[in-house]
Amino acid sequence: MGVGMDTRKQLITLLASNKNTYVSGQKLSDELNISRAAIWKHMKALEEDGYKIEAVTRKGYRIVQAPDEMSENTIQWGLETTWLGQHLIFEKTLDSTQITAQKLALDGAVNGTVVVADEQVKGRGRLQREWHSKQNVGIWMSMILRPKIEPYRAPQLTLLTAVAITRMLKNICNLDAKIKWPNDIYIQDKKLAGVLTEMQAEQDQISFVIIGIGINVNHDSKDLPSELQSKATSLKLVTNQSWQRETLIQELWKQIEIVYEIFRNEGFSPIKKEWEQSAYKLGEAIHVTTGKTQWKAELLGIHDDGALLVKDEKGETKRLYSAEIDWKRTVQKNANTYETAENETK
Ligand code: BTN
Repeated sequence: MGVGMDTRKQLITLLASNKNTYVSGQKLSDELNISRAAIWKHMKALEEDGYKIEAVTRKGYRIVQAPDEMSENTIQWGLETTWLGQHLIFEKTLDSTQITAQKLALDGAVNGTVVVADEQVKGRGRLQREWHSKQNVGIWMSMILRPKIEPYRAPQLTLLTAVAITRMLKNICNLDAKIKWPNDIYIQDKKLAGVLTEMQAEQDQISFVIIGIGINVNHDSKDLPSELQSKATSLKLVTNQSWQRETLIQELWKQIEIVYEIFRNEGFSPIKKEWEQSAYKLGEAIHVTTGKTQWKAELLGIHDDGALLVKDEKGETKRLYSAEIDWKRTVQKNANTYETAENETK
């Protein structure tokens, strides 16, 4: 952070918490403990950063528009969280926000620190897959959490995050997204977002968890690689409009805090209920492969430990941890072979 940036950040926070009203120069100067002339200089600097600021005599200042480019400031302007994202690292380009967050966590970064990038050149998904993270069109972020829970409960944090993403999509975009186990967010049968959780634990204690979230926001079809065109989508493709990423990030972080609070106070069961309400193919037939055996099952929900609960053809309930599931396999040709439309989640 450069000289004066802390004050700038405080100034934005003050103006943001009074988003629709004016804040007087006197109040700003009292709260920040700097002269009114210094406040004016900061306002000019903010304007140079692309903020549009309205200054009205005897009323004060008001931010009317944030810059187009995302930055630490634009994310923090209007952020209503108490701990998540209060420590924020924003970079235009990173290899992967997961890698940066991991380094920061090892260096002692506090609970709730978030790393956000405009672009990732080595974005990674689950199972060592590549995660396509084009510049400026998506939300690519990793949060550092230090929950006081036993390591076996870490998958619950992933499920909790997926629930918060669906809440954000409902509240901001009025979309009913589905969660495809374990943690893919689906809209109209295509993947919109994914969650990647990586943990460092010692014996019975979690040292930190890094939860990476990738959301395709303003991609046009051409922005998605050809091999993903039939499988992936973006908010813009679904809704025919562009979305301001900061608005989505702020609501997402707010919802993560709310859901996390429920998790801390009431445990996993309310989260599980909400997860199941959005579960992709709940109550439907799915095809499972375990080892060399393929079998049909009905999707019942999730277990407290994050496992998928299914009922097999004998009516027995089974917990699946890492089974291969063919979500789109629909046509049974004979007992052992199936026609596969796509086989994405493996
Ligand atoms: C998946 O569905 O496979 C999980 C995708 C997670 C992608 C996000 S984008 C931000 C963070 N940084 C990464 O390299 N990956 C996660």
